Amino acid sequence: MEENLMKIDIHETILPMIDFQEVAALVKEAAGLFCDNAAAAHITAKGRADFVTEVDLAVQRTLCGRLAEKYPMIQFMGEEKDNREIDFERPLWILDPVDGTTNLIHHFPESCISLALAERHEVVAGMIYNPWMEELFLAVKGQGATMNGKPIHVSDSAVLSDSLVSVGTTPYSHEYADRVFSQIKNVFLRSQDIRRLGSAAMDLAYVACGRVDAYFEQFLKPWDFAAGMLIVREAGGEVTDYQGKPISPEHPQSVLATNGKIHDELTGVLSLEENTDGLPVGEGTGTNREVLH
Ligand code: IPD
Ligand code: CA
Ligand code: CA
Repeated sequence: MEENLMKIDIHETILPMIDFQEVAALVKEAAGLFCDNAAAAHITAKGRADFVTEVDLAVQRTLCGRLAEKYPMIQFMGEEKDNREIDFERPLWILDPVDGTTNLIHHFPESCISLALAERHEVVAGMIYNPWMEELFLAVKGQGATMNGKPIHVSDSAVLSDSLVSVGTTPYSHEYADRVFSQIKNVFLRSQDIRRLGSAAMDLAYVACGRVDAYFEQFLKPWDFAAGMLIVREAGGEVTDYQGKPISPEHPQSVLATNGKIHDELTGVLSLEENTDGLPVGEGTGTNREVLH
């Protein structure tokens, strides 16, 4: 492996060496494992409400093996392995074998494989596949984003009051629940409504294709957001932390993804200290609701 890594000139991009149709075929094949109900029911707890099933392990094992056969020069970072040896200067895959494991356990059809390719500390390609919807989201840096081969774009909602916002609950860190739900409430009071899908990667894919106008969640891991971050950007959206600062696939991060138009408004609302129950009359009511009144 180390010998192969040395063959890549660090100033060259890995992208021309990748056949993304071939990688997509591997991802779709591995996603067949999601339908193994016995494996999905074979659960080990990693932490409070944080589970790994035999499906997570089998998908990672399969993809790690197949990608290493095809691309031995690329490192592999996966949620269910020790990633301490990763060198972010050199090319690496970043895999979440099942994003939405709790959904998978409950047969709630919002889960996916999320696979990113990074080099020189930056994500250069992202792929998200939801086998329940048979939807493949793909983006390559500088080449736009697609769903099942068709170009996708973020929504054009210009104000938060006209926006549908997907939220994450930071489910494995209940100690932050007060702050997390206070922020969610502040956004809820100023938007059309909120959604909770239970898969950060699907949340990001849905921002990219305009099904929701924004998504935010604290303390995501690189494999939760690496692929989706690029897909949103290539679909015309914006992805930062809650303060509007750039995020990196090297560390856990708080992630705010929007269509770009409501980004500043959301960073403002997320910075509010506590939830605002007593909104002034008119604030927090969207144009649609004003029409209904
Ligand atoms: C989780 C899901 C969930 C999000 C968590 C993630 P997992 O990933 O994306 O929606 O709220 O923060 O950790 O555990 O299903 O891979
Ligand atoms: Ca995840
Ligand atoms: Ca996972």
